Amino acid sequence: ITRTLCSSAVRNAAIKHVTVIGGGLMGSGIAQVAAVTGHSVVLVDTSEDILKNSAKNIQGSLKRVVKKKFADKPEAGEEFVQKVMNNISTSTDAASVVQKTDLVVEAIVENLKVKQALFSTLDKVAPAHTIFVSNTSSLPIADIASSTARLDRFGGLHFFNPVPMMKLVEVSIAAGTSQQTFDALLDFTKALGKHPVSCKVSHGSKEDIDVAMKLGAGYPMGPFELLDYVGLDTSKFIIDGWYEKEPENPLFAPSPLLNKLVAEGKLGKKTGEGFYKYK
Ligand code: NAI
Repeated sequence: ITRTLCSSAVRNAAIKHVTVIGGGLMGSGIAQVAAVTGHSVVLVDTSEDILKNSAKNIQGSLKRVVKKKFADKPEAGEEFVQKVMNNISTSTDAASVVQKTDLVVEAIVENLKVKQALFSTLDKVAPAHTIFVSNTSSLPIADIASSTARLDRFGGLHFFNPVPMMKLVEVSIAAGTSQQTFDALLDFTKALGKHPVSCKVSHGSKEDIDVAMKLGAGYPMGPFELLDYVGLDTSKFIIDGWYEKEPENPLFAPSPLLNKLVAEGKLGKKTGEGFYKYK
C-alpha cells in the first residue's frame, strides 16, 4: 500500500486532484481509494456534520485495512492512515473547490434534476480541462451531461459497493465523450488499482461482460467462459429444449451466434475454440 501511495503513476498522471461530491456510502469509498493511491482529494457534501461522519467512516475503514496489513508494525500503520487522511480535505462549497480540480466525481442522490442542477453550476466555474463523471446507477450519462457545455469531457464511472473492496469499475461514455476523456478515465481507474470495463458501446465485449460478472457479481466464471466450459453444443441443446417448451419467452429465443459456432464445430474448451480460443 505504501508503494502505491508514492506511485510514480499518479505523479505523472493527468488526473491528480479529484473532487468527490457526495460523502455517503459511495462517495466516501471513492474518496478513500483515490487518497490511498496518492491523489489529492476534496470531499464535498451539504453539511459539516455529514462530512465529519464521512471522514470518520473513511478513517474507520483505513484502520481495518491497517490492522491486517500492518499487523506487526502498528506505528507504520498509524502513519499510513495519517498520510492518507492528509490527502483528503472537505468542503460544503463545491463551486469554490472545483477551481483547481482535474476530475469531479459525483456520487449524490440518484435524482436526474438534482444531478443536472449540480453539474450545470459546476460547469460554469470548473477549469476547461476538468472532466466530470457521475457514479449513477441508472440514469443515462447523456441526460446528466446535457446540463453542461462539456459533453466531450463528461462520462460515467460506476463503482461498486463497498468501493475499497470491489475491483470493478464500469467506465461509460455518451455519444459526445471524447476519446481523450475515455482514455483519461481508464488511466484514472487503473491508477486507483481497479479493473475498468468499458461500457463504450451498449453491447460490451464478451471479455468485459465476463470480467463484470466476476468482479461485480462475484461469479466464479463469466457467462461466456462458463458456456465454453459446459460446451456450446450442450448449451444449445439446453436452450433449444427450453425454447420448445416456452417459445414465447424471449430469454430462450435461439441465438444466431451460438448456432453459428456450433455449426462450425467450435464447441468450447473441448474442441479448442468456442467464444474463446484455447491452447
Ligand atoms: P448516499 O445516500 O449514501 O450518499 C449520498 C450523499 O450525497 C449524501 O451524503 C447526501 O447528503 C449527499 N448529497 C445529496 N445531494 C447533494 C448535493 N446537491 N451536493 C452535495 N452532496 C449532496 O448514496 P450512495 O449510496 O452513496 O449513492 C450515491 C450515488 O451512487 C447514487 O447516484 C447511486 O445511484 C450511486 N451508486 C450507489 C451504489 C450503492 O451500492 N449504494 C452503487 C453504485 C452507484
